[in-house]
Amino acid sequence: MLILGIETSCDETSASLVEDGKKILSNIVFSQIEIHKKFNGVVPELASRNHLVKIIPILQEALQGFDWKDIDAVAAVNGPGLIGSILVGFTAAKGIAYARHKPLIPVDHISAHMYAPHLFHEIEFPYIGLVVSGGHTLLFLVHSFSQFEMLGSTMDDAVGEAYDKTARVLGLGYPGGPLIDSLAKKGNLERLPDWMDIPLLLPDKGKDRYNFSYSGLKTAIAYRLKKFDLNEENIPDVALLFQEKAIEMLLRKSRNALKDFQIRRLVVSGGVAANSHLRKKLDDLKKDSIEVFTAPLEFCTDNAAMVAGRGYADYQLGKIGDLRTEVYSRLPFVKKGKK
Ligand code: KG4
Ligand code: ZN
Repeated sequence: MLILGIETSCDETSASLVEDGKKILSNIVFSQIEIHKKFNGVVPELASRNHLVKIIPILQEALQGFDWKDIDAVAAVNGPGLIGSILVGFTAAKGIAYARHKPLIPVDHISAHMYAPHLFHEIEFPYIGLVVSGGHTLLFLVHSFSQFEMLGSTMDDAVGEAYDKTARVLGLGYPGGPLIDSLAKKGNLERLPDWMDIPLLLPDKGKDRYNFSYSGLKTAIAYRLKKFDLNEENIPDVALLFQEKAIEMLLRKSRNALKDFQIRRLVVSGGVAANSHLRKKLDDLKKDSIEVFTAPLEFCTDNAAMVAGRGYADYQLGKIGDLRTEVYSRLPFVKKGKK
């Protein structure tokens, strides 16, 4: 079954053709980073306007060499994300489905991220699923494609958002994740004074055993910088300090879930899964006989291949939409703030 996937939930316009949820025949991604860079973050109105400009050329590029009759269904993200941006991609999908008499598969963006490693690996259920992106930090117990429980989430900022905000504090620009990641490689914590250290964030006791919190980390860095003479030479050290703490929390909470549910399989997805420090630490988990699955770097950040793949799984489950299917901006089960 050949599925056309469409992703426009944030600042990437992407279209992809995937066969049977596995074989990627095309995956075209246009990133709007250059457009949003000067604002130090994504401007929603600019994002939707630029999706409008790009959606047709990107679709044409992804479909090159294929005929409409080869395509069995159209899958597009209908949430969560920037509502104006999602509307562009999802409305395009509705138009294609209507004009070409193809089934329309509405795809949840988070489920699509979680599917990305499945494009490349055979992964058995159950597993612990960690989704780490610019908008979400979520921990799931995944029983199957249709059955999963949310164990924890961030109570404030998402980890990718914390990367982006801390990069701003350090004067590095946007997007902060890759910038901090590459600078941190040159960092050395021993060069930092003791008072720069940050204590353990969000301990594992009680209801917060699987939850995350990132606004405290970002603020702790900002406060320490008031007394610290930040310069070209020591920026990598501060970047490393932030990165070690940010990634440590992801691993600690994931380990809690693996241990409590006696599961030896972890699937990590979302833009922050491209982080080199996290990937190295995940390799260490493998030494403890935990199977760890991630997607190649370019399939961690937003792309339409993961949407087409997830669309295939959803189609098998009978999750098909129509012209009345709505778009949404937030996950209904995630509530930020103290629980
Ligand atoms: O999944 P994604 O492309 O979009 C959302 O669904 O949010 O994730 C984007 C986020 C951004 O916050 C970006 O800074 C972060 O992923 N990111 C990284 C890295 N590459 C992208 N964070 C840390 N290290 C990276 N190498
Ligand atoms: Zn995403």
